[in-house]
Amino acid sequence: METIEAIKTRRSIRTFSDEMIPEEQLTQILTCGMYAPSAGNQQPWQFILIQDKQVLRKIPDIHEHAHMMSMASAGILVCIDSSLEKHKNMAVQDCSAATQNILLAAHALGIGSCWLGVYPREKRMTELRKMLRIPDSIIPFSLIALGIYSEKKEQVERFNIQRIHTEIWGQH
Ligand SMILES: Cc1cc2nc3c(=O)[nH]c(=O)nc-3n(C[C@H](O)[C@H](O)[C@H](O)COP(=O)(O)O)c2cc1C
Repeated sequence: METIEAIKTRRSIRTFSDEMIPEEQLTQILTCGMYAPSAGNQQPWQFILIQDKQVLRKIPDIHEHAHMMSMASAGILVCIDSSLEKHKNMAVQDCSAATQNILLAAHALGIGSCWLGVYPREKRMTELRKMLRIPDSIIPFSLIALGIYSEKKEQVERFNIQRIHTEIWGQH
């Protein structure tokens, strides 16, 4: 899929079929996460790939907006590894870029995805840490539901000239 088309047609998918995602596609998606830009190329991420259905089904109990996880074929928890952070407080931006790369890679492969916010919600972070045995130095950042589409969403128009300021604020 061409890049501009992938960006404009990606939507959050929240219903999935039972079909599994092939391992090589999951590896490709994770690889794209690692190709994200990061401050000083610090790459402060770690990824937890979750395919255990029992674990996926438990996630809605700890994240109130994650009902789709019980249907997902896989989940990726993007984490900040503070020990890899060379540029203070930039890791949030780095891991956001990695998350978006993952969503776009999945979409390009015909796989549906949805970004679920974790950081900075303490309860979600604590419970995910507990469930996935994540050490204290690692910060659970975002959770991505992945699965084969069982809904098709239309492209929406989002261009808004009012949000573009030409040269100075307020000049459109
Ligand atoms: C930081 C962040 C947190 C989000 N958290 C959730 C969430 O907890 N549950 C959910 O269903 N969608 C979540 N989303 C997805 C948004 O609802 C979605 O991106 C937005 O409605 C725009 O729709 P689109 O992704 O189809 O373009 C989140 C998105 C972002 C960027």
